Amino acid sequence: MCGIVGYTGRGQAAPRLLAGLSRLAYRGYDSAGLALCGEEGLFTLRAEGKLEALCNRVGDPNTLPQSVGIAHTRWATHGAPTEQNAHPHTAFAGDVAVVHNGIIENHRALRAELECRGICFSSDTDTEVVPHLLSLALAAHRDPLAAILEVTRRLEGAYALAILFRAYPHQIWAVRRQSPLAVAVGEDGCYLASDMPALAGLCSSVMFPAEGDIVCLTPTGLSLFDREGAPVTRPSLPVPATAQEVEKGEWSTFMEKELCEAPLGVARTTDALLRKDLPSLRLGAVRELCFLGCGSAWHVGVLGKYLFEEHLGLPVQVEPASEMRYRRVPLSAHALGVAISQSGETADTLAAARKLKELGLPLLGIVNVDGSALTRESDALLPTLAGPELAVATTKAYCAQVAALLVLLAKTAQAKGEEALAKEVRAALSTLPREMEETLALAPEIQAHATELAAATHAFYLGRGTDYAAVMEGALKLKEISYIHAQAYPAGELKHGTISLVEEGTPVVACLTQPRLTGKTLSGVEEVRSRGARPLLLVTGETEVSPQTGKVLRLPSSSPLTAPLLGALAMARLALDTCLTRGTDPDRPRNLAKSVTVE
Ligand code: AGP
Repeated sequence: MCGIVGYTGRGQAAPRLLAGLSRLAYRGYDSAGLALCGEEGLFTLRAEGKLEALCNRVGDPNTLPQSVGIAHTRWATHGAPTEQNAHPHTAFAGDVAVVHNGIIENHRALRAELECRGICFSSDTDTEVVPHLLSLALAAHRDPLAAILEVTRRLEGAYALAILFRAYPHQIWAVRRQSPLAVAVGEDGCYLASDMPALAGLCSSVMFPAEGDIVCLTPTGLSLFDREGAPVTRPSLPVPATAQEVEKGEWSTFMEKELCEAPLGVARTTDALLRKDLPSLRLGAVRELCFLGCGSAWHVGVLGKYLFEEHLGLPVQVEPASEMRYRRVPLSAHALGVAISQSGETADTLAAARKLKELGLPLLGIVNVDGSALTRESDALLPTLAGPELAVATTKAYCAQVAALLVLLAKTAQAKGEEALAKEVRAALSTLPREMEETLALAPEIQAHATELAAATHAFYLGRGTDYAAVMEGALKLKEISYIHAQAYPAGELKHGTISLVEEGTPVVACLTQPRLTGKTLSGVEEVRSRGARPLLLVTGETEVSPQTGKVLRLPSSSPLTAPLLGALAMARLALDTCLTRGTDPDRPRNLAKSVTVE
């Protein structure tokens, strides 16, 4: 997902733009650039690679007097991550500059049409068609709004655009369709950004343009127009983040900071959601659930399947949203759709959620970012209160999502008259934050295990039932930040083929928090140990494990309902320590973005 920031006001734009980009750097990118506009005209500065390269290109930003500008971090989709393909892109006439987050699906046809009109392209990107089209439209209409309306009617795909017109040097224009955009009036001018952290500390409230909205920002205020060009207003929301929440502070990485914030996020989420009613969902009548999400959010859905089927006998469908959006989803009447997403902007999750709504399901959103697309499109919300999460590898948001899932289990149980279960879930949630703190206090022991794991090229993660959902998450954490291939497997499945990959020294992490299944999982562990594997067993409480079975990490005692989360938390810490041992960057792992807003 690319990052966009913009500023127009009384102050200098360049320092504010670079500060905003640095706050969005966590999202993953491979080039960056900015455009400034003033009485002396419009110009751009771009650089391949990390933000430092752009800063070197800019030099001292305080020497640049312009008070209007837009800036961008690019995560390459069309065109290699080069300076030529970095944003902003400018029109052939040099009178329009554009930054873009999303994909213009019909860019090839538009490019061919423009080339036939003699316009030469300087990049391989889909984006570059936009400034050329805007320049032509502005020459025809002599009005930025009319020009934008004409051009956006021709664009297909997802986009958030920020636009500078040389002829209107104090204005920034912006458009959003499916890609996130936020605008705000600050003390010293107006801001726009593709994501909340860039605005933290700069303004007290923020506005999220609706689908198709067009925004004009000036130094003293902003105006919104709908997709037909009619003036509109949108509700403002308080900016939920302070500057401190989006800075690393004394922490060495955002991921470590956010791991340590996880217990508080779970406590806040649980406390708020247990008091929230969901009358519109008629939980007592729900006969089936359909969980959807991507990556870690999908893993939460897998955990939900085990919990709702096991404890309430409710059938649950769960799929990665990228699969669900294209498959036929047979659902019974009284089914409830549950979309899980930290960012609330993941394209596959939004598409699958819209599909469930088209099928007539009520949609419950479990989302961490207020004002995101999924919060607007859900019929009801269980918002997670983990706070801004900047590390690409989710930790505190994942934990808060699990807490929200357990609250949903408690509420559904209560609505169905299963008061004992509701009480058991609430009791388990009440001690969970402390158990999480105790798990994080195992860091020195976990660090020792990481040293050995860091030397591996691949590893297996085993579990049964809800422990399998936990090891799916543990394996993903290791893969995405340490670049070690890790395969999560149902413990009983390994012997049906994959055990052939086990050799002397293969690391195997096994999660054994479910007393009913411990013995069976230990059998799976013994099968791999006898073939040379080196097991690490995550057990809770007093679970007995003979020393020769493998190394043991003893987690705090916890309800079987919440113990898998402690396992996932420990495995996230293990992944972080392994990553740091290997010298990779946990906050900005290669190839990854914090939120994938394109298909
Ligand atoms: C998890 O660590 C990854 N960053 C990724 O799998 C993530 O969970 C996935 O892209 C879904 O993102 P979302 O929660 O913002 O929808």
